[in-house]
Amino acid sequence: MYSLNLDTNAFLTNYWQKKPLLIKNAFPNFEEIISPDELAGLACEEEVSSRVVITKGNDWQIYQGPFEDYDKFGNSHWQLLVQALNHWHPDSAQFIDAFRFIPDWRFDDLMASFATPEGGVGAHIDNYDVFIIQGEGQRHWTVGEKGQYAAKNNDPTTPLIEGFEPIIDVVLEKGDMLYIPPGYPHQGQTLTTAMSYSIGFRAPSQQELFSALADGLIDSNTGLKRFTSTSEPAIANQVSVSHQQDMMALITELASSPDSYQAMLGSMLSQNRFELDLCEPDESYTADMLIEDIEQGAELNRIGGLKMLQLENDSVDRIFINGEAFEHSANIATDIALLANQFSFDSQQTQKLTQNEDTLTLILTLLNRGYFYLG
Ligand code: SIN
Ligand code: CO
Repeated sequence: MYSLNLDTNAFLTNYWQKKPLLIKNAFPNFEEIISPDELAGLACEEEVSSRVVITKGNDWQIYQGPFEDYDKFGNSHWQLLVQALNHWHPDSAQFIDAFRFIPDWRFDDLMASFATPEGGVGAHIDNYDVFIIQGEGQRHWTVGEKGQYAAKNNDPTTPLIEGFEPIIDVVLEKGDMLYIPPGYPHQGQTLTTAMSYSIGFRAPSQQELFSALADGLIDSNTGLKRFTSTSEPAIANQVSVSHQQDMMALITELASSPDSYQAMLGSMLSQNRFELDLCEPDESYTADMLIEDIEQGAELNRIGGLKMLQLENDSVDRIFINGEAFEHSANIATDIALLANQFSFDSQQTQKLTQNEDTLTLILTLLNRGYFYLG
């Protein structure tokens, strides 16, 4: 169990998306989520997104995984970062649960890092909200005020920055946590060999929303209404202000009609940036097979990272799973809400869920897609 020592309501009101916060001993008696050896092993896998960053003075190099061995990196000045640990390491689910006071749609991934002394990715700014939790070892963190900062060494190609004055300057120890909202410069430097974890949260940009809205309209062959006008400008080569505004009003009209945007939002927000570890069964489950397994005590588990979202006041009875809408009958709304809310179900709960034929059918689909597995 990971219990977060934080008044989450006060945090949401005063800090979330606003300002950074240091929470000493956020996880009392913090248990390491993964061992350094296991993490290094995961980064040898093709499907797992990993990188090693080497920092020596002004020299900065990134090696993308997978890795065969780490000997060439030596004993210091490097850090291994593994993205989406929650997809590949089911034991991390309980840790993520501690952050569900923030909605699932925002959750991006759990990144784990193994850092040697003097290792670090350098000073930078993220577009994402991040919680950094210290495992074994010690890392020195500085966080600066939100603002514009010069690129490191005036290099326009580098993601690194320089010249920020710390407003937080702290050595993180086991169980300590740092929250950093988007836009705040920060840097972690490793004092002793250390494990740390970053929980990242995302939010869509205008670009992403527009592009998803356009894709949705094309897929459903909707949004075909054209601009019309009742008057034309006197100057032939001019696009009048009223024509400009009326054209943009066509977009506003779509953007304010739930029928046009709900499917797009559900689909977009339920997709994952990182590859999922699908658990497709060797042989497709039938209703009989599933019922027999449940009678023998099987539990139903959702794979790590799979998003199951519902929209408040949705115009259709449906659940969005990994970018796809699954419509359902209104009479299984309670089952659907439970499936979306919980990550695992013991055999009793599963038995209850499978009593309704519609719910059973959906569970079978999810199992056969590899979105759920029996344990
Ligand atoms: C790190 O652990 O050094 C990288 C995490 C971050 O800066 O977001
Ligand atoms: Co960062």
